[in-house]
Amino acid sequence: MKNIVVFASGSGSNFQSIIDAIQTGKLHARITGLISNKEGIKALERASNNSIPTAILSVKDFNSIEEYSNTLLEQLFEWDADIIVLAGFLRKIPSSVIQAYQNRILNIHPSLLPKYGGKGFYGLNVHKAVIESGDTVSGCTIHLVSEKYDEGPILDQIEVPVLDNDTPEELAARILEKEHELYPIVISDYLKTLN
Ligand code: GRF
Repeated sequence: MKNIVVFASGSGSNFQSIIDAIQTGKLHARITGLISNKEGIKALERASNNSIPTAILSVKDFNSIEEYSNTLLEQLFEWDADIIVLAGFLRKIPSSVIQAYQNRILNIHPSLLPKYGGKGFYGLNVHKAVIESGDTVSGCTIHLVSEKYDEGPILDQIEVPVLDNDTPEELAARILEKEHELYPIVISDYLKTLN
């Protein structure tokens, strides 16, 4: 069975969808740890409710990026991570971690990449931009993480219609539902391709 380490910075509803998929037998894997960059977030509560070990690692608590990266890598080795799943993690993953886990880091983004990806496109900013542009379709994307932000190879996407008079919050909620469906399926399929 493969080991997943999840990174989250917020509510962790995608993290929860992965926990649920494992519990219901839809995803054959185990989550060996959660890494967060801040205290007090709902994702940590979800980890504790499910007896998943956690580590809070924030770059600002280290003297250098190297020290931060090395601590992340040590934690990933300790938890014997086969893949890293980013689930709303709002910090850049250091290059040395991306290199150590080439093609083993997945991310979910709430737009149809390459549209509305890159710097500044996170949270409601994404949905505001979609609505302002007049697009009639948005969605979510799961991709592999490369050193270019939001630009790694796309594994799968789901389209979600943008409705007349949608607020960014309404569109976000409709897309989030699809994220919860898609992420565990893509993780499961991806794990099957690994040795
Ligand atoms: C999701 O919309 C995801 O696409 C983005 O961050 C959000 C995380 O939500 N990367 P949650 O913490 O999983 O509820």
